[in-house]
Amino acid sequence: MDLSGKVAIVTGGAGGLGVAVCRRFAEAGAHVTVVDIAGDVAGIAREVGGIGVVADISTAAGVHAAIAETEARHGRVDVYFSNAGIGDNNGLSSPDVWDDLWRVHVMAHLHASQALLPSMLERGEGYLVSTASGAALTADPISAPYSVTKHAALALAEWLAMTYGNRGIRVSCFCPFAIRTPMLTQAPDDADPAATGVDGAIEPEVAAEILLAGIEAEEFLILSHPEALTYFRGRAHDHAKWLRAMRRLAR
Ligand SMILES: NC(=O)c1ccc[n+]([C@@H]2O[C@H](COP(=O)([O-])OP(=O)(O)OC[C@H]3O[C@@H](n4cnc5c(N)ncnc54)[C@H](O)[C@@H]3O)[C@@H](O)[C@H]2O)c1
Repeated sequence: MDLSGKVAIVTGGAGGLGVAVCRRFAEAGAHVTVVDIAGDVAGIAREVGGIGVVADISTAAGVHAAIAETEARHGRVDVYFSNAGIGDNNGLSSPDVWDDLWRVHVMAHLHASQALLPSMLERGEGYLVSTASGAALTADPISAPYSVTKHAALALAEWLAMTYGNRGIRVSCFCPFAIRTPMLTQAPDDADPAATGVDGAIEPEVAAEILLAGIEAEEFLILSHPEALTYFRGRAHDHAKWLRAMRRLAR
């Protein structure tokens, strides 16, 4: 999809990757709505000539507020980039963290899809994009809830693509490995750089460029690091071997 003149919502738009994407989408000619629960939402919105909405996208009400403000200004939403995310470094972690990550990494995408699909299907077009993670293709050895919820995010995107792909709805799932953002710097000091991917981290602007190219080409799976595909194939090809290899990254 060519983003010129398109109406796009970016959640997590005041965070590391989100800011870079808001800027890149605006450069490509999109009308951008910047949505975040924290950060300089108004400042980024001003910079990209768009709308700023402070909202909690883990709730249906927060997602609906962002969509309502965008529709009030532009009459429609062409592209919804469900990108907000939260990190976790605590292994099996606690039920509360599982609940938070489930709501931000999965339910947020569901709320947006349920809110937007009726009008998108009526128009016969619309684009749902989400950020999962390279962890959705392999695993996150540092956090079980991060790993599981990102797998679920990819599964939901696949389900949307196969169910609505013949009815004009495009779906992409961005599965990046490490991007140099505040989330990456939360990794514990004793974590293996190979497990966090810090050593191969790319800048958010580079990730935003890759994402835009993937959207323009309407690719379902958009990868920041080409080796992700090799790991994904390796996991499918010999699952037991992949699992043994992943043990090296266990903390
Ligand atoms: N940085 C990486 O290495 C990396 C790798 C793979 C995937 N990702 C994913 O990329 C996406 C962007 O992360 P980032 O690296 O820019 O991290 P970040 O922490 O810089 O930005 C995340 C943004 O999401 C916002 N957010 C969190 N919960 C929210 C909520 N309930 N409502 C609204 N906004 C909320 C935060 O306020 C923050 O601005 C996330 O989904 C993350 O899981 C990041």
